[in-house]
Amino acid sequence: MDTEKTGEAVELAPGVYWAGAIDWNGRDFHGFTTPGGTTYNSYLVVGEKTALIDTVKAPFAGEMLRRIRQIIDPSKLDYIVVNHMELDHAGSLAELKKETNAKILITRRGVDILNGYFRDSGSENWDLEIVQTGDELDLGGKTLMFLEATMLHWPDSMETYLKEDRILFSNDGFGQHIATSKRYDFEVGNALPDAAEYYANILMPFHMPLLRFMGVLDKLGVEPLQIAPSHGIIWKEDLKKVLEAYKSWANGEVKEKVLVIYDTMWGSTEIMANEISEAIRADGTEVKLLNLRKNSRSHIMKEMLDAAAFAVGSPTLNNGLFPTVGDFLVYLKGLRPQKKKAMVFGSYGWGGGAVKAIEKELKDAGIEVIEPGLQVRYRPYEKELERCKKFGEQLAAIARKR
Ligand code: FEO
Repeated sequence: MDTEKTGEAVELAPGVYWAGAIDWNGRDFHGFTTPGGTTYNSYLVVGEKTALIDTVKAPFAGEMLRRIRQIIDPSKLDYIVVNHMELDHAGSLAELKKETNAKILITRRGVDILNGYFRDSGSENWDLEIVQTGDELDLGGKTLMFLEATMLHWPDSMETYLKEDRILFSNDGFGQHIATSKRYDFEVGNALPDAAEYYANILMPFHMPLLRFMGVLDKLGVEPLQIAPSHGIIWKEDLKKVLEAYKSWANGEVKEKVLVIYDTMWGSTEIMANEISEAIRADGTEVKLLNLRKNSRSHIMKEMLDAAAFAVGSPTLNNGLFPTVGDFLVYLKGLRPQKKKAMVFGSYGWGGGAVKAIEKELKDAGIEVIEPGLQVRYRPYEKELERCKKFGEQLAAIARKR
């Protein structure tokens, strides 16, 4: 099957169509750098009645409507399933509601968000029905079952299962930020690294709700043949692989891998970072050296996903840490990676301060910090380089004992 039909709706199963939009130029998703763009996937299910599952980001409403029109007249739509009210999925609701009186199916928590964003479009007069886990909608030949997925990614999040065709419309779950004219995993090669980056930057803080949700799928006997997220490609051939990967990520499984994350002002912290990473490499442990001005925060968080330990290095600037390091630590704190150990290093001229400031931020993020940190004044020479080597060896030993 070749789904490279960018202007057309794509059929997933008889009567089930992708009618989404491709954002080729999207480069940032609330702080997540997306060099490959993204997609907003909307799906049309046609039984005796019809339902649209999710919409797209507002500027893409026309693209979605064009694809819907290839299958049905949008004014004939019976239902709109709102899996999630974040505006990359719900942003076209107002445009769509100008075309149809379709009833909106939404979670209880979603209603408040809907009215928060769309009151000025008359949302308080829209026909709504609140659904919860296990509720079903019979479209005539197609049955949708609703599964609340609280905090995957917002309090209102939900996933929808099409029972006859065994397709799980998983919204943010199992997504990837990639723009492609292809719709399936087997058409793009390996999409797991993109799924890992997505998980690390969007779902990492919600590993407990995710494990609970996977338990609900088991309990309700949901065994999908396709997982159709609202970003990126649809999982079919690699479906088992992505499910296993999600279990591993949600359980915080890590390997013998260390990250050395740093920025530098006059080169001293970089000399330290190089020496530390070389000692880790010489130990036989996998290491990634990540300069904060050369790597996006989202790429670093993807590398963080399976790393057992990491080091953060910063020069001292105005008695505190370097701005890029502060930016990264704010981002890291929000994502709350689990089962990581960290050490801190840096250089200074007179007062110092960066190492202590980083240690505090890491502890606040719930990271186990191994002290003391390593500080070098001005330039590292022979004696200081030997301390960097020992620091790297200690990090490698920590990663080995994961
Ligand atoms: Fe893809 Fe939480 O929105």
